Amino acid sequence: MFNIPKKKIFFKKITKNVLKTRPTILIFDSGVGGLTIYREIKKKIPNAHFIYAFDNEAFPYGEKNELFILNRVFKIIKYISLKHLLTIVIIACNTVSTIGLTKLRAVFHFPIVGVVPAIKPAIKFTRNGIICLLATKNTIKSKYTTELINRFVINCKIISLYSTKLVQLAEKKIYEEKLNSKEIINAIKQLIIIPEQPDTIILGCTHFPLLIKEFEKIFPKKTKFIDSSLAVANRIIWLLNNQTEIKYSNEENFAYCSSITKISEKLRFVLKNEGFNLLKQLILNN
Ligand code: DGL
Repeated sequence: MFNIPKKKIFFKKITKNVLKTRPTILIFDSGVGGLTIYREIKKKIPNAHFIYAFDNEAFPYGEKNELFILNRVFKIIKYISLKHLLTIVIIACNTVSTIGLTKLRAVFHFPIVGVVPAIKPAIKFTRNGIICLLATKNTIKSKYTTELINRFVINCKIISLYSTKLVQLAEKKIYEEKLNSKEIINAIKQLIIIPEQPDTIILGCTHFPLLIKEFEKIFPKKTKFIDSSLAVANRIIWLLNNQTEIKYSNEENFAYCSSITKISEKLRFVLKNEGFNLLKQLILNN
């Protein structure tokens, strides 16, 4: 067993000539939203072995049929797990996590960590008792999110707003840089016109932290934006410290996508800058 400090983790080098062996963490999302989770984990565990996988062929997931989504995620994780020794899988997607985490956990033998809307921290933070949950339609309509709200929200008002357009804008922002802020305003205008503004906004989709600068310009200065990335990073550290079976890999970091397209070619450069030198295609049989 190696020692894992509470804050940062550095895995030991065996010898100069042997490649570093590191536990593999697979991060999955429909698109690039999972990078917001990856960045937080990478800060704390810089030299774990990361595989980033995204389902650009079926992106966005937000309004698609649940069974369709779960079948794809199941196939993707199965494909990767047969090729690589996975220590932990992160479903860096609120949509998949809220609709199917239990089902995925029942099938695979490695730990699967999900990302779900940060309702509880938002309740702790709000001063005016008005919270907005910004997420996808599937996340908002899921039984999981409904139960979370019913269980924990007592003296607060939750305004739920979904927008697929916002997810698409965030995805585009990462490879196009220039964004038309009017499009963002349009996507959330129902929220902007509410007379009593929320003081706390839950970014319940991993794509939305990519738009934080734009949100900060739109909403009142004191608005607090809450996402789940830090909680997930802490959970990963806990698992690495406490779970017994850590499998080591000497592979380099790389990414998988479900379809090679003009956009995936643009994303190849984005992923390279994030530390994923290769982008390979997943072969999914029907
Ligand atoms: N990033 C995702 C989420 O957290 C998925 C968005 C989508 O594909 O619609 O929900």
